[in-house]
Amino acid sequence: MSEAPAPADGMDELRARADAAARQAYAPYSRLNVGAALRSASGQLYTGCNVENAAYPVGGCAERAAIATAVQAEGAAFRLAAIAVAAFDEAGRALPVSPCGACRQALVEFGGAAAVSFRQPDASWVEVAADALLPWRFVFPTR
Ligand code: THU
Repeated sequence: MSEAPAPADGMDELRARADAAARQAYAPYSRLNVGAALRSASGQLYTGCNVENAAYPVGGCAERAAIATAVQAEGAAFRLAAIAVAAFDEAGRALPVSPCGACRQALVEFGGAAAVSFRQPDASWVEVAADALLPWRFVFPTR
C-alpha cells in the first residue's frame, strides 16, 4: 500500500496564510473568497486573493495575484517552490477548491515540481505537483 507523500516543508504555514489571505478577497459577485500563499525557491512567502470586477472577465484569481506579487519582489528569477490555495463562502465556511486551468498554466511556468495544496470536498488538504495538475500544457515552441 502506498503512503501519502510527506507534506512539503512549511506547507502548514502556507495553508494558514492562504486562509488569512482569503479574508482580503474582493468577491462581491461570486461570493467565493479565495486566498493563495506561496513560498519561493529563495524561501520568501507571498500571498494573493481574488479581485473581482463588475465586468466579470476583468477579475483575477488569487494564485496569479500571489505570483504577480512574488515576481514584483524577486524579479524574473522568481521560482515557485510551494503554494496553498483556500476558499471560503461569505459565512466563512471553508470550501473545496482547486486551481483553475489558467492558474495551473501560471503555476507550471514558475515551478513544475512545486507542491500545490488545496482542500478536497471532505475538507482534508491534498498536495500534488504542479506538473501533475496540467498534463499536455502549452509550452512555447522552439523554432
Ligand atoms: N478563483 C480563484 O481565485 N482561483 C481559482 O483557481 C479559481 C477561481 C476565483 C475567481 C473568481 O473571483 C471566483 O474564484 C469564482 O470563480
